[in-house]
Formats: sequence, structure tokens, C-alpha cells
Amino acid sequence: MGTVLTFGTFDVFHVGHLRILERAAALGDRLIVGVSSDDLNISKKGRAPVFPQGERLQLVAALRCVDAVFLEESLQLKRHYLSEYDADLLAMGDDWRGRFDEFADICKVVYFERTPAISTTALIEKIRL
Ligand code: CTP
Repeated sequence: MGTVLTFGTFDVFHVGHLRILERAAALGDRLIVGVSSDDLNISKKGRAPVFPQGERLQLVAALRCVDAVFLEESLQLKRHYLSEYDADLLAMGDDWRGRFDEFADICKVVYFERTPAISTTALIEKIRL
């Protein structure tokens, strides 16, 4: 299927992150990951990530299933990133189901089921307690 693109913050990296990246990579020849910037995460989730963007980029780039990473600076630039990286497929978790169907004119859009019972937010809460 050629080039697969996915996006996310990938803060406090956990197995749900690994699984979506492995499943996305399995759909194509190479996987490129847009890692949300610190500012984008603040606007999206109302808090700064635990790990700064440079470290999150480094962690995701080091994974065997990931071929390249870039910094995602705005949710409004999805179409631009998809064409810039020549994506054949956009893979997202199903918390975003339907939200990216508008890009079906330039690439295939696939939603994966989230891994149950784990999230960055839940991990932060657990560590706090
Ligand atoms: N993801 C997943 N399964 C999980 C958690 C995340 O498949 N249990 C996927 C999301 O659907 C998304 C990608 O991993 O496509 C990056 O998600 P991100 O928002 O960075 O992680 P969350 O754990 O969902 O973070 P938060 O709790 O801050 O929303």
C-alpha cells in the first residue's frame, strides 16, 4: 500500500501507542509519523506533554516499525502533510472515527480500534496517585 501516515502525541509512550504503530506499519511499505508539537498538544488536550516534543520525536523515530517522523504543528495542516509526504494511506485510532473521511479523495483512510484500558491520561493519573 506504499506510504502510511499516522499522527499522535505519543506522550508517556505505552503499549497502545506501539500497537497502533505496528498495525499501521503492516498496511504499507513505510510508516511516517506526525508527532504533535507541545503547543498543539496544549491546544488539543489542555495540558503540556510530560515529555517535550524533541524527546517524543526521538522515541518514536527509534522504533523498528517507524521509518520517519516529523513535527505536526497544526491540526489544520493534515491535507498538506498527506500530500507533502505522498501518503497512500492515513491510519488513525477510532477515537477519531469519521473525522478524517474528508481526505478519502487523496488517500485511503483507516481507523484502528484503540487498545483497551490504557491511555497517557490514565497513566498520568495512576502515577499521581
Ligand atoms: N491509541 C490506541 N490505543 C490506546 C491509546 C492510544 O490505539 N489505548 C492510539 C490513538 O488512537 C492515536 C495514537 O495512539 O491514534 C496516539 O494517541 P495519543 O493521543 O498520543 O495517546 P493517548 O493515550 O490516547 O493520549 P491521551 O490520554 O492524552 O488522550
